[in-house]
Amino acid sequence: MDSGLDWHYARAALEWQLELGADEAIGEAPVDRFAVEVELQAARAAAAVAQPAPRGGGGMPPPKIDEGPDPVAVAKQAAAAAATLDDLRAAMAAFEHCELKRGARNLVFSDGVAEARVMIVGEAPGRDEDLQGKPFVGRAGQLLDRMLGAIGLSRAESVYITNVLPWRPPQNRDPKPDEIAMMTPFLARHIELVAPEVLVIMGNISCDALLGKRGITRLRGKWAEVQGRPALPMFHPAYLLRQPQMKREAWADLLELKAKLRAGA
Ligand code: URA
Repeated sequence: MDSGLDWHYARAALEWQLELGADEAIGEAPVDRFAVEVELQAARAAAAVAQPAPRGGGGMPPPKIDEGPDPVAVAKQAAAAAATLDDLRAAMAAFEHCELKRGARNLVFSDGVAEARVMIVGEAPGRDEDLQGKPFVGRAGQLLDRMLGAIGLSRAESVYITNVLPWRPPQNRDPKPDEIAMMTPFLARHIELVAPEVLVIMGNISCDALLGKRGITRLRGKWAEVQGRPALPMFHPAYLLRQPQMKREAWADLLELKAKLRAGA
């Protein structure tokens, strides 16, 4: 596309956007959001004029807008029908109610050994995971691998890993409550199908989805129960990258996990 911009100017503008955190192009042509807003206001004003004014302040109630099926109910039904992990992956790929799917490059389903005693539940894919279609492959994932290695576990042999959300939220924003709610039935079925002895719940979003509460600083290191299985909330490795002084607590939690596995879970 010939934008008419001087090459050096265009490059400097691009670098500035990267500095600001933009890490992907989402459209061929720029959109003037101010012009879009003006057009929207004009359209709203026209629609308001076209509405017949209610006489005497009463009249018929406005017609009910059909909001379509309840995404949580659809997810529950689709998840329950999945008899295997492959079925579940296919059911999630076919689920059209979560907006995150439209902005993602790949469905990030899982990694590791499906027969593992330990299942780790992370939050949502980031940029690297979205590109590769695998959970925890970026910097946080590398730290997770080192943490697991420190107690003799690995995704190659003894751990299964998934996330609450299989699609990357734009700009890595926090998932919205309705997005968590509609993907949780798939996660619950995922846990049933893998049937691990122990769950590790990494970070607040995962605690929200599986325990119905947040507050990882309070929850971490204390065994909870999820679907009849022991579940250990832990600091998310991405948090540990930002707050390395918290690695001491993470180490205590890893030892707690190791002891549980030694004791036969
Ligand atoms: N953070 C997560 O919670 N999951 C991933 O897969 C990557 C980063």
